[in-house]
Amino acid sequence: MDNSDSRFLRFRVAPRMPKFGAWVEGVDLARDLPPDVQRELRVAWLHYGVLFFRGQSKLTPQQHVALSHVFGAGPYEGNPQFERHKENPQVELLVSDAERVSNSDQWHTDLSYNNPAPLGTIIQIQEKPPVGGNTAWACMRKAYEWLSPPMRACLDELVAVHAHVNHRRLSWANLVEPTVLIDILRNDPPVKHPVVMRHPITGTGGLYVNELFTRDICDMHPVESAALLAMLHRWSRLPEFQLHHEWQQNDIAVWDNYRTQHYALYDYFPAYRVNQRVTTRMFEDFAQLKGDMNAIG
Ligand code: SIN
Repeated sequence: MDNSDSRFLRFRVAPRMPKFGAWVEGVDLARDLPPDVQRELRVAWLHYGVLFFRGQSKLTPQQHVALSHVFGAGPYEGNPQFERHKENPQVELLVSDAERVSNSDQWHTDLSYNNPAPLGTIIQIQEKPPVGGNTAWACMRKAYEWLSPPMRACLDELVAVHAHVNHRRLSWANLVEPTVLIDILRNDPPVKHPVVMRHPITGTGGLYVNELFTRDICDMHPVESAALLAMLHRWSRLPEFQLHHEWQQNDIAVWDNYRTQHYALYDYFPAYRVNQRVTTRMFEDFAQLKGDMNAIG
């Protein structure tokens, strides 16, 4: 049975989960995309939260950056920690092998310790391990909508602190030099976000807490905050909210950071894996995009 979404006319969109994640077929992302294709891609992306493109050629850094203007207002400044492509520093390389370990094996939303945080992320797995190295996404809109009404009402009022001080960076081994902590706090001061993020474009609510960067819920006793966050993290990991992708070489995934979180499975050490990545900035004006969403449905 063909389960294509008939609202999209310029390429095929096939959902992977109810209301979350979709395959897109019939688009070559290395090419200049006509405006009508770009419009439909943005609507499909906001509708499904994460899109997957198979059978793509290896993107040059320039082609990759061009996509950040389709799924956002160009490249986000990003995180100085990541290795950069030598031809274009706007492109990040997340490389793991016997010497370089992965740091993406924790549930997170990209760079949520910034405000504003990036809108989208576009990755291409340019080298994949012989087996393993899949990525999982959780739909945080579904995670919010499936909560009981009293819990949703309570969370709607709350604000949380996000900081780039995760347990690995804060391990005692790193803090033997006390200035390390001062540098972390100076370079990435903590920020606040609502616990329930109203999506800036679609207006839909979604949980916006993640295990890696959300530290505390404001105005709560630390015991209450820790217990509530532990519950929300456990809840967000329900399999019904998750989609797992098994990569083929050069597959591309594009996701909406205001709607999802993700976890890159690190079961392939010491094999080689290369993720070429660009995160994107929020659109400056999205009246047109809202109109396109209404027109397509
Ligand atoms: C990430 O962008 O956080 C990592 C995703 C991956 O390597 O699969």
